[in-house]
Amino acid sequence: RTQQALIRESWRRVSGSPVQHGVVLFSRLFDLDPDLLPLFQYNCKRFASPQECLAAPEFLDHIRKVMLVIDAAVSHLEDLPCLEEYLCNLGKKHQAVGVKVESFSTVGESLLYMLEKCLGAAFSPDVREAWIELYSAVVKAMQRGWEV
Ligand code: HEM
Repeated sequence: RTQQALIRESWRRVSGSPVQHGVVLFSRLFDLDPDLLPLFQYNCKRFASPQECLAAPEFLDHIRKVMLVIDAAVSHLEDLPCLEEYLCNLGKKHQAVGVKVESFSTVGESLLYMLEKCLGAAFSPDVREAWIELYSAVVKAMQRGWEV
């Protein structure tokens, strides 16, 4: 099977319950880098703990947004360049809220962690490799938002 088929099949198992899986991803992210927590502020209010953040409706909306972006990438595997402009702008927005480009590698690790938890034995080395490639392409496009 092609890499694209591996991505589509594995994403089908995740995308049915995006918030649940997004919570696994972001819990892992805050474990790996607790300093990312203060970047999420709604009405200028910081969360006291990852648990509080992971339960807030605004943050759950961010999780939905993240999962929608990944969903868009999965739907456009044959034409990722058509997302370039959108992803570059999305990168700019993240730069503006204080996200460092380097943090996207920790997000990538957390994404792989979530996929492994969700897919179990189906998370083969080939599936892993396919996701690393797709995620790298998304981050590469977002990174352009940090360049002047
Ligand atoms: C918006 C933080 C990763 C997609 C935002 C906002 C913050 C934020 C503070 C604005 C408030 C909000 O809409 O909730 C972060 C941090 C990240 C991260 C700290 C990790 C280090 C991602 C990733 C994606 C993503 C990986 C998708 C691939 C979005 C989208 C929006 C958003 C679609 C809405 C942009 C808009 O309003 O047009 N993010 N984010 N974020 N984020 Fe993230």
